[in-house]
Amino acid sequence: MFVLGLQGSPRVKGNTGILLASFLKEAGRLGALTQHLDVAKKNITPCQECGVCEEKGFCPIDDDMQEVYPLLRRADIIVIATPIFFYGATAQLKALIDRSQALWSRRYIHKFEDPGMKWRRGFLLAVGATKGKNLFEGVELTAKYFFDAVGANYEGSLTYKRIEASGDIKNHPTALKDAKEKAGTLVTPLADRKKVLFVCTENACRSQMASAFAQYQAGDRIETISAGSSPAPEINPLMEEVMNEKGIDMAYRRPQSFEDASKFGAPDLIISMGCNDACPVYPGVRNIEWDLEDPANKPIDFMRQTRDKIEKRVLELLEKV
Ligand SMILES: Cc1cc2nc3c(=O)[nH]c(=O)nc-3n(C[C@H](O)[C@H](O)[C@H](O)COP(=O)(O)O)c2cc1C
Repeated sequence: MFVLGLQGSPRVKGNTGILLASFLKEAGRLGALTQHLDVAKKNITPCQECGVCEEKGFCPIDDDMQEVYPLLRRADIIVIATPIFFYGATAQLKALIDRSQALWSRRYIHKFEDPGMKWRRGFLLAVGATKGKNLFEGVELTAKYFFDAVGANYEGSLTYKRIEASGDIKNHPTALKDAKEKAGTLVTPLADRKKVLFVCTENACRSQMASAFAQYQAGDRIETISAGSSPAPEINPLMEEVMNEKGIDMAYRRPQSFEDASKFGAPDLIISMGCNDACPVYPGVRNIEWDLEDPANKPIDFMRQTRDKIEKRVLELLEKV
């Protein structure tokens, strides 16, 4: 599983960074793959309100946000961490949050469902210098709406007042321990899911569809990973189209190699769609062969038939797993 930490302070080794690191360290110890992303180091232009995402479902601004969208989609848990700047999140983090309007548009205007929204969780960490009664109200509301846009269930926050000079958070009696414990509470149920690895040749059609259907139906109890023996540079646009016909959003998914997939740990089960003898080998792990013809470069109807066959097999599989 993957935990994404979005660190919003420009003081990258400041209080927010230290608090987030405590959360991510525990998540990593519990077996999650983690990424601590210092948002202030990224080039993320504020939303220009151009309307393209509402019309077409993607953001046309070519900057580092294009790397962030796939991470948001891939994450099982997203943590946003920020110091309070004028009763809100930092401008750097707010720019990233506003750019998630592209995902909001896919969900609410285009009516596509990202399978991840069935189990993804969101959490907020925040610190501020003063002790104002309403210090975290603004950022909590922002977090709530951000997590809704990116398809994550908001699990609440840990917030700390009277934290000002860099490193003050280390002297707080419970903050770092609280963050560690919260990581345990959020990560453990998701880390305990059974892992199914779907494989095909290019990880552009068959294994992507199988993985998405399994996530859509049972992502809260099964962690799925997909990979290819010779991954394509992009997922197949026709595959994306036929999945959209079923209301399932495949945007920002990327084909990956067996080696990349192995970073998520050994699977409990492998389903292969026809990668022949190039299939990954995990000693002692059962490998089921579905032997489905590759729909790449075939007419859209063949892609639809393959999609429907895969959906049926996934439903049958889920009754047994
Ligand atoms: C531009 C700016 C605005 C701030 N606004 C607030 C504020 O409205 N309320 C508050 O309690 N602290 C405010 N602070 C203080 C920071 O929230 C506080 O120092 C925090 O611990 C910084 O965390 P960091 O080390 O992760 O950057 C502000 C700091 C800066 C630089």
